[in-house]
Amino acid sequence: PIQQDLAGQHWVITAGPTMEAIDPVRYISNHSSGKMGYALAAAAQARGASVTLVSGPTQLDAPQGVKRIEIKSAEDMLSACREAMVKPADVFIGAAAVADFRMKEVASQKMKKTGDSDEMQLTLVKNPDVIATLSQENTAKCMVGFAAETQDVIAYAKSKLERKGLDLIIANDVSRTDIGFNNDENQVTVLSKDQQWTPPKESKSALAIELVELITQYQSTK
Ligand code: C5P
Repeated sequence: PIQQDLAGQHWVITAGPTMEAIDPVRYISNHSSGKMGYALAAAAQARGASVTLVSGPTQLDAPQGVKRIEIKSAEDMLSACREAMVKPADVFIGAAAVADFRMKEVASQKMKKTGDSDEMQLTLVKNPDVIATLSQENTAKCMVGFAAETQDVIAYAKSKLERKGLDLIIANDVSRTDIGFNNDENQVTVLSKDQQWTPPKESKSALAIELVELITQYQSTK
C-alpha cells in the first residue's frame, strides 16, 4: 500500500492541449497527448492528495479518484483553475500545452472559401498565460510549470521560471524524438531558483511518481 502522506492536500493540474475555435467546425490546437499531466494526477492521487485535473481534449480516461474538469479553450482553462482554487491549492502543476493565440473573433458561421484569392488571413490575439496569471494571483502555495525547449533548454527554462513566478520548472528537450510529446517515455531536468535535478529517462508514469516526490520534498523546505 502507498503511504497516504498527501492526504489533506489539494493539487490542481492542467493537462492536454487547448482547442481554440476558428468557426463552428474548425479549430487551432497542438499535438499534446496529455499523458504527462494525467500521470502526475494519478501519482499525486495515489499518495492521498485530492486532485483536480483541468484537461483539454485528450484520448485518456480520467485516473481513478481524480476530479477531472474538461475544457477546450485557454480562457476556459484559466476560469476552471481559478474556480478550483478559490481556496488556495497546495500545489499547481501546469502540464498543459496551452495554445499561445486564439481567434480575435470566432466566426459564428462556417467560413467559406469563396472569392478568387488563394490566400486566407486569420487575425489572432494572445491567450492569457494560465500559469503566470495564477502565480500572480497567489492561488497555490507551490507553482510548478513545464518548459518544452529545442535548444538552450536549461537557460530558457530558468528564465521562464523567473518570468512566470514559479517555484519549480520541469524542462525537457523536445528536439529529441525519443522523449516528450506523444511519447510514453520522458526525460526532464527540474529546476528551482538555485538547484537542479535530473531523474533518469523512464516511462511517464514512473517519472510522474518521482516528480511528485520531488515536489513534495521541495514543499517541505519552503
Ligand atoms: O511559455 P511556454 O508555453 O513555454 O511555458 C510553458 C509553461 O507555461 C507550461 O507550464 C504551460 O502549461 C504554461 N502555459 C500556460 N499558459 C499559456 C502558455 C503556457 O499556463 N498561455
